[in-house]
Amino acid sequence: MKEKILEYLRVAQGFVSGQELCEKLGVSRTAIWKNIRSLEEEGYQIQAVKNRGYRLVESPDSIKAQEINGYLHTKWLGRVLYTKESVDSTNTWAKRLAEDGEPHGTVVIADEQTQGKGRRGRHWVTPKGATIAFTKLLRPDMPPERASMLTLVEGLSVAQAVRSLYGLEAGIKWPNDVVVSNKKICGILTEMSAQVDYINYIVIGTGVNTNLTEFPEEIQHMATSLRIELGHEVKRAELLGALLEAFEKNYEIFEKTWDLSGLMNDYNLILVNCDTQVKVLEPGNEYVGIARGIDKTGQLLVEREDGSITRVYAGEVSVRGLYGYV
Ligand code: BTN
Repeated sequence: MKEKILEYLRVAQGFVSGQELCEKLGVSRTAIWKNIRSLEEEGYQIQAVKNRGYRLVESPDSIKAQEINGYLHTKWLGRVLYTKESVDSTNTWAKRLAEDGEPHGTVVIADEQTQGKGRRGRHWVTPKGATIAFTKLLRPDMPPERASMLTLVEGLSVAQAVRSLYGLEAGIKWPNDVVVSNKKICGILTEMSAQVDYINYIVIGTGVNTNLTEFPEEIQHMATSLRIELGHEVKRAELLGALLEAFEKNYEIFEKTWDLSGLMNDYNLILVNCDTQVKVLEPGNEYVGIARGIDKTGQLLVEREDGSITRVYAGEVSVRGLYGYV
């Protein structure tokens, strides 16, 4: 009922009379009033004026389903949505749900992760209320070796959503770090359960530094948050809605070919390494070249001094700018 009341108040963008809410929801005025009180206790500011009704003034920065649903404009992604205050890792949770048979497009989100996972076995810090940590469960009908491309699709989607929602110049550091002011605002961890030629499921976990105000000294030079870049807090539910919408749109392009041919132009346009000198760190081999963008498989094309092009595969190497992280 609370979710329905919120929906009417959001759509109205002004006053909705108590009578109208009673009729729409088929309940008494007292029931409406009790639910309004309960929403206020959750942090919603609702103005009540005699003879006019109720008006939503301000929503809290909540990632409860009732708040997220107000910003969700997708067709299939996130239509099955689970939220928790605290979880070990949203990726681990999504994998458990996948094993239980939850469908393609399921999304899980938590306010806090106690064992957030980063790439290469690293830890990902997710303090309560200050970041977005969410995971998408997908069951794509494609060969398993293509799975890593989905991480690039997610990186592109995050950068696009941040650009359109906040007007920030978000870019991508190959393959999938999303950066603002040359500092990382987002990390992505993709995991898969597959047989040799068949994907059981893929989970794509994304952590966005939304409202963090400081970072440990050792990563200050390479990490930032939307709060720091914008100078104000962001509403995480609104951002999540935009992130899911962008991914759904890009995924539908991706699944036409099961590669990045329909997305690589958009990706290369915001690739911060594009046409810059990079240092490629391969096990036992280190060289410098100019990054020329990705191909349709997501490999980075690096132009060597002799003009030849080397294709760099994300799994084995890391790429750095000559003078720092980007
Ligand atoms: C990286 O090392 O850059 C990847 C970090 C990925 C973090 C996200 S937060 C949501 C999801 N759950 C996890 O445990 N990890 C990912």
